[in-house]
Amino acid sequence: MSLTILKLPSSLLLLAFLATANAQKQNGEECTCFRTNGHSSGYFTSHRFHDFRNVQSGGDIPDLITDATNSSLVGATSDFFLGDAWTSDWTIQSWTNADSRADSDATVLMVNSPNNVYIETSTDNDSSYSTYLTLRTARLADFQSAAEFDSTEQNFHHLSARFLARVTGSAGACAGLFTYLSSSPVQEADIEILTSGPRNRVQYTNQPSLNKHGDVETKATVNGTQDLDWSEWNIYRMDWMPKMTSWYVNGISVANISYHTPKDPAGLIINMWGDGGSWTGEMEEFDRAMLNIQWMEVAFNVSGDYGGKSKRGVDGEERMGWVERRGLEKRKSKGCEVVCSLDEDVNVTGTPALLYNNTGMGVLGWKEGTGAMGWLPVLVVGLVGFGWL
Ligand SMILES: *[C@@H]1O[C@H](CO)[C@@H](O)[C@H](O)[C@H]1NC(C)=O
Ligand SMILES: *[C@@H]1O[C@H](CO)[C@@H](O)[C@H](O)[C@H]1NC(C)=O
Ligand SMILES: *[C@@H]1O[C@H](CO)[C@@H](O)[C@H](O)[C@H]1NC(C)=O
Ligand SMILES: *[C@@H]1O[C@H](CO)[C@@H](O)[C@H](O)[C@H]1NC(C)=O
Ligand SMILES: *[C@@H]1O[C@H](CO)[C@@H](O)[C@H](O)[C@H]1NC(C)=O
Ligand SMILES: *[C@@H]1O[C@H](CO)[C@@H](O)[C@H](O)[C@H]1NC(C)=O
Repeated sequence: MSLTILKLPSSLLLLAFLATANAQKQNGEECTCFRTNGHSSGYFTSHRFHDFRNVQSGGDIPDLITDATNSSLVGATSDFFLGDAWTSDWTIQSWTNADSRADSDATVLMVNSPNNVYIETSTDNDSSYSTYLTLRTARLADFQSAAEFDSTEQNFHHLSARFLARVTGSAGACAGLFTYLSSSPVQEADIEILTSGPRNRVQYTNQPSLNKHGDVETKATVNGTQDLDWSEWNIYRMDWMPKMTSWYVNGISVANISYHTPKDPAGLIINMWGDGGSWTGEMEEFDRAMLNIQWMEVAFNVSGDYGGKSKRGVDGEERMGWVERRGLEKRKSKGCEVVCSLDEDVNVTGTPALLYNNTGMGVLGWKEGTGAMGWLPVLVVGLVGFGWL
């Protein structure tokens, strides 16, 4: 029965392949590991895709809360931020720099407000999304109102994170997308956009960015000045790998930094802030700036126990597009059976594409007695895997 398959009409092969590919609909549930491309390519055991492009809850831009205390204490702007899909992965922040301000060159009180994290209805002339996530920072009379959310997972140990994002608004803010470990010294792999401009400059940094003499180490930072405008939508990708952090914008390599690559497990932070200090500059009263995000995708490994609230979900359970991967032990012993890609062959953003199905491939890939449509996809996938289709 081995070779007859090759004589089947190619349309049948295609059908079989499509039937197999359909199994990938649930954002990688069938995948045992996830592969990324490029020079910083790697394999990861877990994958998440969080999509804000068509969220039903929220939509209106919340009015600014002008009282600092109230802005910190306020609750979420919509049900979206109360649902499991959000709360099990992210924590919206409400800390202020009241205590830490004296140790920095901040000139204003900064207050993180849950009121500045919201789903916004798009008015863009683009039907591929009707909403997006917004993080807002605004200068009020007495303080800078800011926005931040942190991952509940604090044990990422290497990841490839991608964000479809843009930054708009006044000078005096910094949009940050970064890994963070509050150790001494702090460890970070950063993407930072300063609204003071210019609009083609994005800064990529490994922290600590100071050398052992306490001086700024230029090897820790790349001031990217690519052919891009951060006020337009771009896909920012950061690969934190064991020996180097690499950054890409719209698939193009923009920075590689091996100096002080973060070593220890860390969390992820997304924020939009300003404190009147020398880094962000000072925003004028009534001004504001926004970080908009259509989607975020992260392929990652974790080290040790899950650092978040609880172990959640059953194997492969889908939660608003986030798929929790379980059974790492099983995967460790068996290796990666179903290899999916975040990049190659991906037709639907956020849905990893099947690259190889090694399940049972040890003995030619199919078992005696399996019906035609049962083993056909296996062979086709095998052919695809070996680059024959
Ligand atoms: C992630 O974990 C898998 C399984 O242990 C391992 O094969 C892979 O190399 C790890 N990836 C990175 C980037 O460390
Ligand atoms: C703070 O919020 C409370 C409850 O909504 C409200 O009664 C109070 O007036 C607010 N304070 C200020 C200073 O705006
Ligand atoms: C990058 O730009 C920042 C902000 O202007 C500047 O402080 C820093 O010295 C620059 N770093 C390098 C390595 O060019
Ligand atoms: C990053 O390193 C890769 C592999 O060496 C190289 O191809 C790429 O051009 C580098 N990117 C930059 C911006 O230097
Ligand atoms: C993606 O689309 C291309 C072109 O239509 C097709 O060849 C490929 O099989 C598709 N990949 C998946 C995973 O569906
Ligand atoms: C991989 O192959 C196995 C064995 O044929 C099959 O049961 C499984 O559904 C396949 N997985 C995918 C994602 O196609």
